[in-house]
Amino acid sequence: MLRPALRRLVLVLHVGVSVGWLGAVAASLALGVTGLVATGPGVVRGAYLLLEPVGWALLVPLSVAGLATGLVLSLGTRWGLLRHYWVLFKLLINLVATGVLLLYMRTLSAVAAMAGDPATSLDDLRTPSPVVHAAGALVLLVVALALSVYKPRGRILILAS
Ligand code: HEM
Repeated sequence: MLRPALRRLVLVLHVGVSVGWLGAVAASLALGVTGLVATGPGVVRGAYLLLEPVGWALLVPLSVAGLATGLVLSLGTRWGLLRHYWVLFKLLINLVATGVLLLYMRTLSAVAAMAGDPATSLDDLRTPSPVVHAAGALVLLVVALALSVYKPRGRILILAS
């Protein structure tokens, strides 16, 4: 079990990185929408170029840090990893969102390469895909945030020793 002071420190880290991840997803959504609706060629190309570094510098590290600190909190407190449905659902949300993100980084690299190539027209560059992915991630993370705060009672009876 974590001592109270250490538990609070890990909780500060966990809330910081998890909610930071949510914020970075919202920024990615804004970039994706900008790419779709902006009229200036520089703005459209810039938006699609930025999605990749935002992914590597923010989305990937924050998602992994949220998972790592969440695991420490679950295993180091009475909540446990497989005792309460709200913790299990958050774990599944994190694993699904991080897995899809890691696969999707290849698409963001390809989009950034096209954005940097003057031979690619703006019409060929514009794609709803980043908006769809960021919107889906945002919904998942808001559900995870609500689960964290409301902590619904349900316990996983088989494992709730
Ligand atoms: C997916 C994104 C996640 C978000 C947005 C998120 C958010 C939060 C927030 C805001 C809290 C503070 C709640 C409070 O103190 O009332 C919290 C606590 C907690 N989270 Fe997460 N979390 C996420 C992922 C995870 C994961 C993957 C796990 C487990 C593997 C986890 C396990 C926990 C536990 C056990 C607590 C309670 C800690 C305590 O009371 O000491 N979280 N989370």
